[in-house]
Amino acid sequence: MSTVTLDNKTILVTGAAGFIGSNLVKRIYQEAPSATVIGIDNMNAYYDVALKKFRLNELAKYPTFTFVKGNIADKELITELFEKYKPSAVVNLAAQAGVRYSITNPDAYVESNLVGFFNILEACRHNPVEHLVYASSSSVYGSNKKVPYSTDDKVDNPVSLYAATKKSNELMAHAYSKLYNIPSTGLRFFTVYGPAGRPDMAYFGFTNKLVKGETIKIFNYGNCKRDFTYVDDIVEGVVRVMKKAPDKKNGEDGLPIPPYAVYNIGNQNPENLLDFVQILSEELVRAKVLPEDYDFEAHKELVPMQPGDVPVTYADTSALERDFGYKPSTDLRTGLRKFAEWYAEFYK
Ligand SMILES: NC(=O)c1ccc[n+]([C@@H]2O[C@H](COP(=O)([O-])OP(=O)(O)OC[C@H]3O[C@@H](n4cnc5c(N)ncnc54)[C@H](O)[C@@H]3O)[C@@H](O)[C@H]2O)c1
Repeated sequence: MSTVTLDNKTILVTGAAGFIGSNLVKRIYQEAPSATVIGIDNMNAYYDVALKKFRLNELAKYPTFTFVKGNIADKELITELFEKYKPSAVVNLAAQAGVRYSITNPDAYVESNLVGFFNILEACRHNPVEHLVYASSSSVYGSNKKVPYSTDDKVDNPVSLYAATKKSNELMAHAYSKLYNIPSTGLRFFTVYGPAGRPDMAYFGFTNKLVKGETIKIFNYGNCKRDFTYVDDIVEGVVRVMKKAPDKKNGEDGLPIPPYAVYNIGNQNPENLLDFVQILSEELVRAKVLPEDYDFEAHKELVPMQPGDVPVTYADTSALERDFGYKPSTDLRTGLRKFAEWYAEFYK
């Protein structure tokens, strides 16, 4: 692998006002204070924009951070951005996320995840970068029966359009890596959670409902297992990956062997949804988001599986450990405590 230095470099982060994106920008500045980060985000209203503004506000303290409000599906804008800033490294996190929303709003996925990512690839082709890192997802594993999920497994059976767009990103990146020698690494994230996270995700949605005294629906009667991964562990992994790009090499035919890689980043420790809810509820009480005598049993409803959902996610991270000497390690209680404390402060 080739070393990519972040010091004094210009780095483009798409989806910078997003949950993972904003945490990544902070982590990049910790790693390389001399870097210049350009963040782009269209600030769409898929979930409460106040959260996106809150996250951006925290990035305002970095003097070399520049925010551009715009859509990665706007090819002209992306071309201009690349020509103006000539980024050395690009991290594409902008996407329409969410499995369930893709059932009712497929267009948003085609626009942001397919057209948007295509524009990023085209821009990297015309303005060569040292490394393109992009978000894929554990959802590409579909209803894979074999666990843990390994990047060697076949992933040709997506069960949602969201998953299909993420798998498509990996295929498109492979073709561009091969054709134009663009070093690219796709990262399959496993259920990321943490402070200022996404309100469309279960832990956040459950919290909102419990606070309002509403009943939470626990899908698949609680028999879902998720490899919950704390956001700090994710961005630690992303930064380590950014600094080592797949090598550019030619094959026997004289043509490039695609400098292409894909890794899982997950906690390798799937937790049962019911246990997860139990820990969450204890931490919400501890952080005084909920009163001590809260009756959880009365606010819990066990319901069947939803279309597009998968019963288990479980990451095999041996490749990440082998190549980057790293694997996520934050336990659920520590991570949910940070979330609950943030929630108490933000919504007080
Ligand atoms: N959070 C998870 O559990 C998880 C799991 C697997 C993969 N991912 C992937 O990681 C990436 C980041 O996810 P996140 O959880 O931070 O989600 P997020 O929704 O908080 O962040 C994505 C950001 O991208 C922006 N965006 C969306 N479409 C855009 C467009 N066309 N142009 C510009 N900006 C656009 C949104 O406004 C948002 O701020 C996404 O690609 C997501 O699919 C996340």
